[in-house]
Amino acid sequence: MNGPDRSPAAGVGDSAPFSESWERLSAEIRACRLCPLGATRTHAVVYRGSPSPRLVFVGEAPGAAEDRAGLPFVGRSGSRLNAAIDVVGLSTREFGILNVLKCRPPGNRFDRAAARTCRPYLRRQLALLRPRALVPLGAVALRELAPEAPRILLAAGRPLGSPDGPIFPLIHPAAALRSRALRDRWERDVVALRDWVQVAL
Ligand code: URA
Repeated sequence: MNGPDRSPAAGVGDSAPFSESWERLSAEIRACRLCPLGATRTHAVVYRGSPSPRLVFVGEAPGAAEDRAGLPFVGRSGSRLNAAIDVVGLSTREFGILNVLKCRPPGNRFDRAAARTCRPYLRRQLALLRPRALVPLGAVALRELAPEAPRILLAAGRPLGSPDGPIFPLIHPAAALRSRALRDRWERDVVALRDWVQVAL
């Protein structure tokens, strides 16, 4: 029997089309030179996933692997995130992944001024995707989506309200690679996300 496609390589081979507005926005982001990161990136990193996701994961900024590939979360953090998405049980039609910053900051140092310039792109992406909920990954994405939320270690692992509707923060998957305690935290919170998705989405 053919079950739903649970491969995390979302976006590749997904049959539903993206809208013209989405394609125009993506082209605009790929050509963007509004801040200095446009001069140092290899690729702007727009999105991977479904044109109509229930859940959108929001990361911080592309790293070296993402800058090379032009896709978010394809390096080590991406493997961890893909494994988590499998645990949550989302099919390729149900989720999407993007970042606050569309271009890699040199040395992976988050650039707040660039994030302000980039903000309208994130807002327009979310307005077109209209997911039922967002999963900010780490402190930067949480601050961007819910400036009033408690800090990430307090907020992660449970649902919160935000100006965009429900959010379910997780620590950043790269943080989960840093210590045994954070890995355990990540794994517990991913299971909590799975349980929440089952009842709330
Ligand atoms: N970390 C992020 O926040 N985003 C990526 O795309 C990759 C690593």
